[in-house]
Amino acid sequence: MAEKSTELISGGIIKKDPAKLRLTSNLQGYDNLRKTFKWSDADKLVEWFPGGKINAAYNVVDRHAKGPNANKIALIYDDGEGNAQKVTFKQLYEQTNRFANLMKKLGIKRQDRVFFFLQRSPELYAGFLGAIKYGAIASPMFPAFGPDAIKDRLLDSGAVCLVTDSDLKKRFYEVKSLLPELKHTIIVGKDVAPDELSWEKEMASASDKFETVPMDPEEFMYLLYTSGSTGKPKGVVHAHKGIVQAHLTAKWVLDIHEEDVYWCGADLGWVTGVVYGVLGPWSNGVTQIGLGGRFDPDRWYKTIQNYKVSIWYTAPTAVRMLMAKGDDTPKKYDLSSLRALYCVGEPLNPEGVRWAQEVFDNKPFHDTWWQTETGSILITNFPGMDIKPGSMGKPQPGIEAAIVDETGKVLEQGEEGSLAIRPGWPSMMRQIWKNPAKYNEYFRNGWYYTGDTAQVDKDGYFWYVGRADDVIKTSGERVGPFEVESALIEHEAVAEAGVIGKPDDLRGNIIKAFIVLTPGHTESDALKADIQKHVKSRLAGHAYPREIEVVIDLPKTRSGKIMRRLLRARELGLPIGDISTLDD
Ligand code: PRX
Repeated sequence: MAEKSTELISGGIIKKDPAKLRLTSNLQGYDNLRKTFKWSDADKLVEWFPGGKINAAYNVVDRHAKGPNANKIALIYDDGEGNAQKVTFKQLYEQTNRFANLMKKLGIKRQDRVFFFLQRSPELYAGFLGAIKYGAIASPMFPAFGPDAIKDRLLDSGAVCLVTDSDLKKRFYEVKSLLPELKHTIIVGKDVAPDELSWEKEMASASDKFETVPMDPEEFMYLLYTSGSTGKPKGVVHAHKGIVQAHLTAKWVLDIHEEDVYWCGADLGWVTGVVYGVLGPWSNGVTQIGLGGRFDPDRWYKTIQNYKVSIWYTAPTAVRMLMAKGDDTPKKYDLSSLRALYCVGEPLNPEGVRWAQEVFDNKPFHDTWWQTETGSILITNFPGMDIKPGSMGKPQPGIEAAIVDETGKVLEQGEEGSLAIRPGWPSMMRQIWKNPAKYNEYFRNGWYYTGDTAQVDKDGYFWYVGRADDVIKTSGERVGPFEVESALIEHEAVAEAGVIGKPDDLRGNIIKAFIVLTPGHTESDALKADIQKHVKSRLAGHAYPREIEVVIDLPKTRSGKIMRRLLRARELGLPIGDISTLDD
């Protein structure tokens, strides 16, 4: 199994010898494809209904269940305690059909919003894909969300149905009375109230036959809320057409082959979990691992060993946590099944890439860059391509990426500027739900502005610099300062709050809050801990400020907006820049 000579570090570059890779890369002739590739070529990789109609779920499930892969294992779900459940494509097909029939019975209308607030589980996969095949818009929520985060999403989207479980429903019931449009609550597990529906009973009585609904490619498939600099989370809407690009990138970037065992660690509440933990891999008919439970190095390595994972997609913070645990832990396991490693969500330090080379028998991490809004990987290190550790790699064929200034002018190689993409790729978001103004903010001068700053080098590799806005990336999760500030000032001791990301070796950034106390409150560790607990319980476990600093006042513009840029500059000892709008 050892492939010592496959990839060698040379002068900082990890040189690939494609001939020595265990499997021939699906993507061949990258430079040529950059010139010749047309998205219509990729349309042929998915199945269409007559009249140019499509359904993403048909491609993800039905086409395999109706073909030679019917009895192939689609999902090995391990609850984290070692209890494994195997689901074939045929079984997944039947379960998704049952859920679609339940949608029909409840009178859910085409393009109604159906939400899932569940731990990762076979039910979550079946419900999510069942809603999509029915023609509803599916939206999974991160199980760590608190009541405020749940309310913001269900209210803004006008959700009519929620699938949750006996445990998580408690947080939902704190805000249910504020959600007049929500008609149906489906509960997985016991403890089902009279006005709720039991998943078990409804699924058992529903038929396992259903004709997947042919959709217009532009009709909506899923909706995920994500954070920006200002305001509440925004609903990023994706269309069925996106499956074309999810399929192609899973094939070309993740290099999925028939015989692979694929593991993506992301929760379905995040876009990585949806696109590369469901859509792309299954569209390619691969066996996937779904692992429940919390992060635990031994369990993770054991997962790779026991299920013979060959492709692994994870996040830089997880890599840094594994590195911190030391190299003796991975040595206890047989990790020789691995052939390709990928990362996403935040910058991956070159040390992370090299560490992987050492502990995973010469297999480096391939960094991939994309966003909730882009719907699939756009810039990446392909398996057959040399890696420059620390770089995000090169654009996917069909994607025109550039470093531009505020007028849309393309900057020279080596210059820092806004990372921008030429709009029109198949998996691009189609809307910000009920907020066309927010959607339009992304598109200027003929470019889609990503909100990231970056550089490109002479060889065409892109290098991440930072965010151009106030969005915080902590452990790879995207957090909006406004949401945290709003939760902070709900606490009776907090009069005002300003929130920034502060660089951190393990988490990329931590959330730091500057607060002004209300009269009558004095600073203490106990008070800070209470404020942290409050934010955690309202928003989510990861979205609370790990550091709180009490200040006399906050820098604001004359119109009263908190200047987070100044807070950050002061914290990090950076130049303070233009302060002409600062209030006296
Ligand atoms: O800032 C970039 C960072 O994550 C942002 C997108 O976050 P989200 O929508 O939550 O999606 C994350 C997973 C697709 C980007 O604007 N980001 C993502 N990938 C990378 C990255 N930063 C540096 N390197 C990456 N590879």
